[in-house]
Parts: sequence; structure tokens; C-alpha cells
Amino acid sequence: MEIFPDKAALSQAAARLFSQIAQEAVSAHGRFSVVLSGGSTPRRLYQILSQMPALPWEQTHVFWGDERLVPPADPGSNYGQAKAILLDHVPLPPENIHRMKGELAPDTAVADYTAQLHQFTPGQPWPRFDLVLLGMGSDGHTASLFPGPISTAERTQPVIAVTAHYDGRPAQRITLTPPVINDAAHILFLVTGADKADVLTAVLQSPPQPEKYPAQRIQPHHGDLTWFVDNAAAVKLNT
Ligand code: 6PG
Repeated sequence: MEIFPDKAALSQAAARLFSQIAQEAVSAHGRFSVVLSGGSTPRRLYQILSQMPALPWEQTHVFWGDERLVPPADPGSNYGQAKAILLDHVPLPPENIHRMKGELAPDTAVADYTAQLHQFTPGQPWPRFDLVLLGMGSDGHTASLFPGPISTAERTQPVIAVTAHYDGRPAQRITLTPPVINDAAHILFLVTGADKADVLTAVLQSPPQPEKYPAQRIQPHHGDLTWFVDNAAAVKLNT
């Protein structure tokens, strides 16, 4: 875990790590696959990345960890947010944008994204992503994995539909599941703000309760997991 004075410093460091992982991935296997998160925390990072034309955008493939089931132009769309802040400003080939189709019915959106994952890596059910960006809600959710019993589908399917009420955001969502996220080479949580202090301490420093704290379901099988947090979120950690 790394603790930064504020979101600005955290976002700069995240952009440096993003750049390093992108370059290493392109050198190693010719392309960089990254999963973006929604929510407000990554906006600053996306702004910084939008001003980094030297990143290997032509070889970058962008996916999403979760999406609210709203049309792409809706203010609640995670794709729409990333498009406006980042994707519209960098030379990313349109075919490298692999969005979750929030305008579809839940089951159709799940089937579509499951097929997109499979098509990206024929012969495998999903790609081993080079980088997965994640945020965390003040209830411990991450992507759209919310507190409560862990379903069989969440354990066995790559993409699932969920309904969850959080902070007035669209409740119908689809999400990647832990088997896919935990298969990634690098997983990076970005957590900022005083409203996350209690849950961050619980997730990182209390015994595992993955049903209560979904962020604890993220345990990479063979990659690395990094937490970037700011002082405000870290204030209750026992360091
Ligand atoms: C979403 C997210 C979600 C988000 C957290 C944190 O679609 O809402 O992907 O998991 O990362 O809710 O959101 P904030 O960054 O706004 O606190």
C-alpha cells in the first residue's frame, strides 16, 4: 500500500504506474489490456492520462470492470465518463474500446460482454488483463460486487448482472466477477476521502468477511495487488 498526501499526488503516481505497466505489456506481448473503473475517484487519473500522448494508445485495449445499465450518453454511464474525460482525447483506435453495453437488458448485456471477453482471447473464457483499476465504495463494494451473499454465478461466471442501490446511482448494473479480476497481472485500487476511512481499515486490517466487504474478494491468483490511498482515507489505519 502507498499513502499519498491527496488525490492529486495519488493520481500522478497512478498515471506513472499505468504508463509503466502499459509499456511493459506492449514490450512483452504486443498489446496492453486495461480495465477501467467508474465512480468519481479515477477522474483525475483519466485527465492526466488524456494528456499523455506518448502512451502506447494504438496497442491499448480498454475494458470496464462494471457498468450501470444506462445508455452511453447518460451522465451515469461509466463508459460515457471515460469517453468524455479520456478516450475522446487520445489516439485509441475505436475497435480497441470494449465497452459494456449499458443500453441493453441485463441478461443481453451480460451475454454480449461475456462474448466480447471470449473473442478478445479466443480459446480462453476471458483475457488475463494487464491492469485492472478498481475503486471502493464506503460500504466496501468494488466494481459492482456489493455486500451480501456471494452467488454461485459470481463464483463461476465472468460477467453477472446485479441490482444495488448506492449513493443515488443507477441501480441496475453488470460487473466482472472475482475469477476474472483475480486473474489479472496487476490490480490497482484507488481510494480517497475521509468517508472511506472506516471501511478501508476494516477491509485491510480486520479478519476476512468477504460477504460484508466485497473488496476482500479481490485476491489475485498470480498477479500483484496494490492499494493507492490518500491521507484522508488512511487516517484510521493501524500503520
Ligand atoms: C461504479 C464503480 C464503483 C466505484 C465505487 C467508488 O460504477 O460505481 O465502478 O465500484 O468504483 O463506487 O466510487 P467513487 O470513486 O465515486 O467513491
